[in-house]
Amino acid sequence: MRIGDSIYMDYQASTPVDPRVASAMIPYATEIFANPHASQYSLGQQAHNACISAQSVIAEAIGAMANEIVFTSGATEANNQAVAGVLFGYKGKRNKVLISAIEHKCVKEAAAFYGKHLGYHIEEIPVLSTGEIDPIAYSRMLTEEVLLVSVMAVNNEIGTVQQVAILAEQAHNVGALVHCDAAQAADAVDIDVMDWGVDLLSLSAHKMYGPKGIGALFIDASLHQDLPALIRGGGQQEGLRSGTLPTPLCVGFSKAVSLWVAEKEYRREHLRQMSAFFLQSLDDKNISYRLNGAKSPRHFGNLNIELINIDAESLLMRLQPYVCASTGSACNSGFLASSYVLKMTGLSASQASSSIRFSFGQGTDASQIEEVIHRINQIVKF
Ligand SMILES: Cc1ncc(COP(=O)(O)O)c(C=O)c1O
Repeated sequence: MRIGDSIYMDYQASTPVDPRVASAMIPYATEIFANPHASQYSLGQQAHNACISAQSVIAEAIGAMANEIVFTSGATEANNQAVAGVLFGYKGKRNKVLISAIEHKCVKEAAAFYGKHLGYHIEEIPVLSTGEIDPIAYSRMLTEEVLLVSVMAVNNEIGTVQQVAILAEQAHNVGALVHCDAAQAADAVDIDVMDWGVDLLSLSAHKMYGPKGIGALFIDASLHQDLPALIRGGGQQEGLRSGTLPTPLCVGFSKAVSLWVAEKEYRREHLRQMSAFFLQSLDDKNISYRLNGAKSPRHFGNLNIELINIDAESLLMRLQPYVCASTGSACNSGFLASSYVLKMTGLSASQASSSIRFSFGQGTDASQIEEVIHRINQIVKF
């Protein structure tokens, strides 16, 4: 995608709102703007119906029931609610929480905070050099003391895809609950809470061509009574998350989800072609690189590569304003500390500082890739 002079290759940080999503949202901002919880009049009911139907569309897309979808402000809140809800709700039952060592900061920080204040041991499951959960360590760590396992479906920095169904089954065998952060999963894998056997799952609309400021937490219906709400107030969403539902965002999110369902195969094939072309173009210019994370399965829209002996921060600076890419996850940008995700996969500090993430989306094409590689080549060769 080109915006002015910039070529956007940071789709894992955020995707643009699909124009079809934006059009679907507008009437709910300008006309059917009434409070969706104002049930005494028709406009309020229309807004309410739009939110209910959005909930059903999202539920159906991921194999859930409509009442199991709780709208949140994004995956950060969904992850916080999942962790806090389980840790508060089952306090005193078991005392350990396992999270993968490469979870997003919002899972790590939530687990550390609530774990510390509620008296749980938080343990990080090590990963292999591919970023996949170390199966031997995981089996060893799974005991009947474990209350919750939280493992992301797809890593935001290196694109590694976890075998969630297998990991969830193992966790259930020792009676633990399973939460999965699926914020980055849509363009890589099919998301199905039944097939995966997860109890909680987080989504974010702005990672799938929907608006920012909305996400969802799937909470298996059997947990609804036990999980206290993080956000309290008027008791909306059956008391699971208070606050007036943002109708335009709910509608936009569900439109993005329905487009994803209709187009996901095509989208993934496009990403596969774009990443293959990017790597081929690096080879053609004899630029030395190493792919971080797993070769396969992986999120094809994510190419985290180490450019051998190149300082990634200064490369990115010299590529401005022409290329939008990232040297860490978006919420970490601004910090020059090297990525904990890369470190956990065994990269040295210097390898991590040579690593850069290019992420592609539906607006990426071959001409943009050619131009980006040309610009990189000019900097690294001269
Ligand atoms: C894996 C993962 N989890 C959670 C989040 C946070 O999502 P949101 O921006 O919707 O709060 C992100 C966003 O970068 C992410 O990549």
